Amino acid sequence: MSALLAARDLRRSFGGLTAVCDVSLDVRPGEIMGLIGPNGAGKSTLFNMLTGLTRPDCGTVTFDGHDITRARPEAIAGLGLARTFQNIRLFEGLSLLDNVRVAGRVKARCGLLRALAGTPGSRREECAITERAMELLALVRLADRAGDLAASLPYGDRRRLEIARALALSPRLLLLDEPAAGLNPAEKAGLAGFIRDIRERFQLTVFLIEHNVPMVMGLCDRVMVLHFGLTIALGAPEDVQRDPDVIEAYLGGVGHGPA
Ligand SMILES: Nc1ncnc2c1ncn2[C@@H]1O[C@H](COP(=O)(O)OP(=O)(O)OP(=O)(O)O)[C@@H](O)[C@H]1O
Ligand SMILES: [Mg+2]
Repeated sequence: MSALLAARDLRRSFGGLTAVCDVSLDVRPGEIMGLIGPNGAGKSTLFNMLTGLTRPDCGTVTFDGHDITRARPEAIAGLGLARTFQNIRLFEGLSLLDNVRVAGRVKARCGLLRALAGTPGSRREECAITERAMELLALVRLADRAGDLAASLPYGDRRRLEIARALALSPRLLLLDEPAAGLNPAEKAGLAGFIRDIRERFQLTVFLIEHNVPMVMGLCDRVMVLHFGLTIALGAPEDVQRDPDVIEAYLGGVGHGPA
């Protein structure tokens, strides 16, 4: 099966520290792939290189047949690779609805000027974008707060809004950087089911970073483990969980990573 996303020999150093060292990976269409590893292992740096936010020192990234190694983040998003951030990034001063609509406009490629022109075509497009944004807010159970400012949301709601915004790009691949971080136990318990649900509904491929090891092992088709910037394991969850290097580096011998 050919990869939807392929990275080859990606490397990135910061000063004297090699955060990611010659990492290669394939994300296959339709799978949920997990990325785990101790704090500072290079997980977010890897995601940043895959999405154009951090330039690799060397190596290549291919998405859906396009070489995106040096592409800008907006161009990569436009090709259908969307993401969320470990430190949530929302438009704080915009409403929930506008946070999602902005992404819908990127997808529809209708700039502000076209929207302001107010032609029947642009008005129809705006209506469709708003309707779709409301559907996505309903999906993440935030429709009743559509008019509120993003800044007013509690933590778990912010994470869900960020996912709705990513989905408004109609991505083929969704990268989630620690989607369970900061969620309360009830929200955490629902997250795996939600991710499975959106994969089915939108025919998504998902690549996620998560410290919640039981969740990763239960949810993911394959799991990759980074340690000091190096891939120390990549395979089925049951194999990765038994791997002696992984147990020593991360799982601490009890099958659970840090909370
Ligand atoms: N912009 C930067 N400038 C300098 N050092 C950086 C930068 N970004 C990351 N690093 C360093 O690179 C290493 C990897 O960081 P990264 O954020 O990728 O780790 P991580 O696996 O995502 O960790 P965590 O689980 O804590 O989120 C760390 O030592 C970090 O301090
Ligand atoms: Mg990180």
